[in-house]
Amino acid sequence: MRVAIEPTRSYRLVNHGPVTLITTRSGGKPNVMAASWVMPVDTDPPRVALVIGSDSLTFENVMATGELVVNLPTVDMIEQVHEAGNLSGREVDKLQRLGLRTVDGSRVAAPLIESCIGWLECKLIRDDSMQKEHGVLVAEVVAAWADDEVFRDGKWAFGSTQKRTFHHVSGSTFLATGERLEAGTKAPRR
Ligand SMILES: Cc1cc2nc3c(=O)[nH]c(=O)nc-3n(C[C@H](O)[C@H](O)[C@H](O)COP(=O)(O)O)c2cc1C
Repeated sequence: MRVAIEPTRSYRLVNHGPVTLITTRSGGKPNVMAASWVMPVDTDPPRVALVIGSDSLTFENVMATGELVVNLPTVDMIEQVHEAGNLSGREVDKLQRLGLRTVDGSRVAAPLIESCIGWLECKLIRDDSMQKEHGVLVAEVVAAWADDEVFRDGKWAFGSTQKRTFHHVSGSTFLATGERLEAGTKAPRR
């Protein structure tokens, strides 16, 4: 079930650097692209930084509307993520082509992808110096959500299911998010 996460705690959804799907909606038309260069940069106010190529439709949509959603896909969405990162919404309706169903966001017009397990609804901070100097967009997280089957007590708890995030290495190579480790607990004796 999708449950609300306090935005100041939303950094916990993306702290481990998973690949993401960025959704936008401009002129009524939704779009999706893959993005791995997304990271939390502040907790209060909650903020994320993103690098989004200036030639992409996503960049154009974000500039036009000031809104986006960071969606966290699962490993069984690898083909959809790969295609979302190798096609442009200028050429094709990617959400429809990839069979990605959406629900409305609560604070932004950009949609949430239903089959994902984490969602950050964001509003662009305009004219940020990072954007001017380095092409890094900074956005405030205005609402966040997680699937409580795998995000419990403020932490990812993936277990052994396919319902886990993954990471982009390069090209078509990815790594699934692995075992959770806790510091401060004694290693078992062998
Ligand atoms: C796994 C993966 C991760 C990607 N990460 C980024 C990224 O962080 N930033 C970026 O600008 N492009 C990234 N891309 C490329 C964009 O997704 C790609 O340019 C896309 O076609 C843009 O789509 P659009 O024109 O519909 O917005 C990535 C591609 C893949 C396959």
